[in-house]
Amino acid sequence: MAVFKQKHLLLGVTGSIAAYKAAELASRLTQQGALVDVILTPAAEKFITPLTFQSVTGRRAYTDADLWGGEAHVLHVGLGRAADLLLIAPCTANTLARLAHGLADNLLTVTALAAGGAGTPILLAPAMDAGMYEHPATQASVRALRERGVEFAGPAAGRMASGLSGLGRMLEPVEILGHARLALARGGPLAGRHLVITAGGTQEPIDPVRYLTNRSSGKQGYALALAALEAGAQVTLVTHPTGLGAPVGAQVVEVRTAQEMLEAVLGALENADGLIMAAAVADFRVKRVSGHKLKKQDGIPQIELEAAPDVLGAVARLRPGFSRLKVVVGFAAESQDLLENAAAKLASKQLDLIAANDISAVDAGFAVETNRLTLLFADGRREALPLMGKDEAAEALLERVTALMETYARSRTL
Ligand code: CTP
Repeated sequence: MAVFKQKHLLLGVTGSIAAYKAAELASRLTQQGALVDVILTPAAEKFITPLTFQSVTGRRAYTDADLWGGEAHVLHVGLGRAADLLLIAPCTANTLARLAHGLADNLLTVTALAAGGAGTPILLAPAMDAGMYEHPATQASVRALRERGVEFAGPAAGRMASGLSGLGRMLEPVEILGHARLALARGGPLAGRHLVITAGGTQEPIDPVRYLTNRSSGKQGYALALAALEAGAQVTLVTHPTGLGAPVGAQVVEVRTAQEMLEAVLGALENADGLIMAAAVADFRVKRVSGHKLKKQDGIPQIELEAAPDVLGAVARLRPGFSRLKVVVGFAAESQDLLENAAAKLASKQLDLIAANDISAVDAGFAVETNRLTLLFADGRREALPLMGKDEAAEALLERVTALMETYARSRTL
């Protein structure tokens, strides 16, 4: 994803059994396009080698041997200043305390001091055994570091290496990556904006065990949420339970029916700047939902349907009441007359932009990894995007949304 591309990440690794997970983290960050330099403390070297990190990052992994070597006096300053983010994962109680007190007795802590002094953002993922994180000494360090603007990813509660349970487990690499994303995204083009994004299909109950749904996977909506977070936005993701990992930093509201989606969206729009309706909302729902499971011996059920609420239709009606709302985007899933139908929806739902999606194509639409979107704007502009991954499509759409927000802001200041 874009926010990591060509970013210099300095990954500090300290002496915890969770150090083995740092290799996966370094690998994931590298796969996202980041340039990852690693510093191991002497204690970390007892758990994992520099070669492990060099193998997954393709870049240098430094140790205290470098601190006392030829480049010594400038290395820490250079590394600390060049970094877009200093991430220490795992960060032991010992290193946490040292950072809180400004101690600089190994390459990592001396670099952290230089980085902090240069204003480089610092993110710590603590890892320590039961009782250590809650200890007043550690808590005092955490408070002191937070006051200085240092951010924390975790720790989580769970089972420790000692077999005890408690607060102190390092977050999983994918979650730490999510926190790093938020740290890098700060100040992005959508900073200060709140976007409500819907994802997935809805589920309309027939009886306590059955429901009507559709083939939407939620992937496009989740990709949009991620792209919005990468652009620095605050994100509310309204979704059916998809099983897709929720992006770190998004406020997730789980819904099942069109009615629940309507209520969640209207509630979130009170203080939102934009809405992107990527969800495939049911058009029809069961008129009389059975309170008990329908049984075979009662014969084939005659299920009568009625209209489900149209979320975008309601937003269009209520839009004057949403004082912050600037941009509303819809999707048009069509299997015929793509552009005509999309243009009609753009007008009837009073949208600023609609992303038309030809779901009859095998490589676009529901439950596939790619989409070929044509964008239709309220001012008549049309833009056909090539076939692309849903994450790229999300980035492209977010760029247009950002531009629409800027145009809106300019029009208000004229
Ligand atoms: N939508 C909605 N509420 C519904 C149905 C759809 O808000 N009950 C939104 C979708 O999230 C999408 C847009 O309206 O952004 C268009 O959805 P689509 O299903 O293509 O259109 P419909 O209005 O439902 O019309 P039809 O199904 O007849 O094509």
